[in-house]
Amino acid sequence: MESQTQKVAIVTGASKGLGAAIARRLAKEKIRVVASARSTDRLEKLAREFADTIDPVSCDVSDSKQVQNVIRHTIRRYGRLDYLINNAGLGIFAPVESLSENEWDEMMNVNLKGAFLHCKYAIPHLKKTEGHIVNISSIAGTEAFATGAGYCASKFGMMALTDALTFELKPYQVKVTALCPGSMKTDFNHYKEYAMEADQVADTVWTILSAPKGVIYNQILMRPLVPREFQK
Ligand SMILES: NC(=O)c1ccc[n+]([C@@H]2O[C@H](COP(=O)([O-])OP(=O)(O)OC[C@H]3O[C@@H](n4cnc5c(N)ncnc54)[C@H](OP(=O)(O)O)[C@@H]3O)[C@@H](O)[C@H]2O)c1
Repeated sequence: MESQTQKVAIVTGASKGLGAAIARRLAKEKIRVVASARSTDRLEKLAREFADTIDPVSCDVSDSKQVQNVIRHTIRRYGRLDYLINNAGLGIFAPVESLSENEWDEMMNVNLKGAFLHCKYAIPHLKKTEGHIVNISSIAGTEAFATGAGYCASKFGMMALTDALTFELKPYQVKVTALCPGSMKTDFNHYKEYAMEADQVADTVWTILSAPKGVIYNQILMRPLVPREFQK
């Protein structure tokens, strides 16, 4: 087991996009980051940027055994868990009548069940450190739109998971936050040129985690400020 005083985070979906930006942001704060995703080649490349700080671990977040393995690995190697960032996610956008059952299941299993599984198995360890869970939801977790039924349902579900956990974990001084970004410049979906940089959203994750001891940010919504020339 390595250092027991350095804070330790798990960031899911860290192979690219927002997850990789969050892993880098936390590593800059000298937090030990267990970075998980399925693309191990990308994770290993990220880990080489911060060899002493980012620890790449393969995990499909929808698989309970793989999730338990990530938590076990974290505790065995570092002896503690302070921050859980549930970031892994995907969006498949289509009207309900053409969205396939597999597409619906995949969004539920990755976006919602993946977060549930990580919370379930991380909570005993977060109670010991008075830790913090940040669920990366979306503006789509607060307002629905045509073609967004599956994605919005998964993210609305994440908002409910966050709310329930806030009450369950309050007695243990464990904080729970939903961060709801609007459009970002990642591979997730097509975006406009004024979309936010993943680094800007990752900075907000750090702001949330570094809130004063007696303060919880329950929900943060952040959107790109649409330039005048793009407004209707
Ligand atoms: N981009 C946006 O405009 C936007 C807006 C609001 C909210 N969000 C949310 O932000 C989060 C990050 O999205 P992003 O924009 O960074 O998208 P992205 O660039 O497509 O990255 C998605 C990440 O999720 C991981 N992932 C997908 N399925 C997974 C699975 N089964 N198991 C483990 N990891 C999995 C991917 O890793 P592997 O493929 O290597 O497994 C990848 O690291 C998502 O929850 C998304 O819903 C995005």
